Amino acid sequence: MAYETITVETRGRVGLITLNRPKALNALNGQVLSELLAATKAYDADPEISAMVLTGSEKAFAAGADIKEMQSKSYLDMYLGDLFSGWEEFTRIRKPIIAAVAGYALGGGCELAMMCDFIIAADTAKFGQPEITLGVIPGMGGSQRLTRFVGKSKAMDMCLTGRMMDAAEAERCGLVSRVVPAGELVDEALKAAEKIASFSLPAVMMAKEAVNRSYETTLAEGLRFERRVFHSLFAFEDQKEGMAAFSEKRKPDFRNR
Ligand code: CAA
Repeated sequence: MAYETITVETRGRVGLITLNRPKALNALNGQVLSELLAATKAYDADPEISAMVLTGSEKAFAAGADIKEMQSKSYLDMYLGDLFSGWEEFTRIRKPIIAAVAGYALGGGCELAMMCDFIIAADTAKFGQPEITLGVIPGMGGSQRLTRFVGKSKAMDMCLTGRMMDAAEAERCGLVSRVVPAGELVDEALKAAEKIASFSLPAVMMAKEAVNRSYETTLAEGLRFERRVFHSLFAFEDQKEGMAAFSEKRKPDFRNR
């Protein structure tokens, strides 16, 4: 499929998706959403792919939802069109997606990065929820996901003042998993994705599902869910292979990748 607002490359078992609206700093409009959903769903269904990396440009991962697309909309337009509800489909992708963020990840850009499974940031990354400066609030999950990720105090600070946090602060408060030099960002993210892709795919997908479940349920239910999923992995030959390889002091050769 030919895309206009993203580019897509396959690197081994990893799908690399790059947001590509440079003139608008990768602002997220309806076309970006539909192309991103098409690309991630295609990779999700592709047996040759086990993980994805989503990145932007050196200057911007994404500077937010497209303000110019929203600016003249009425409440009726927003309500009937249920703007941004389509992004929920992105969170239903089952294979892991790493966000590789350089430059601005603002508003919807920060929210999209948080919809991915983890964030690797370049030392140039800047995160923020500046919607308050536009007379609105986050609409793609910022008030909910950011609060769960970094706690109430910092989420309030970000959403109420609209200030940006740099990569070091984002790592300190747990928004990103690691910070790397800007020039190494995509390679580091691809390396992490390749590592994930070398493991048993059902185990990887179940690990993603189990961690995500912790945001949706109580600790007791989450622990029960984890245990059931853990038990179910003993139905796969990859569990036998992984544990045999450990005992035999050799590298595992997982079949379900
Ligand atoms: N929507 C639409 N266009 C955008 C955009 C956005 N979110 N962000 C940047 N652009 C466009 C600019 O309008 C500009 O286009 P023109 O050349 O046609 O004027 C182009 O991208 C380059 O931007 P700047 O000239 O502003 O670049 P800069 O380097 O001076 O500033 C910036 C960079 C600080 C990121 C600045 O562009 C900015 O503040 N952008 C808006 C950030 C923002 O408010 N994001 C939240 C959007 S609302 C939202 O996301 C709601 C939600 O929760 C889903």
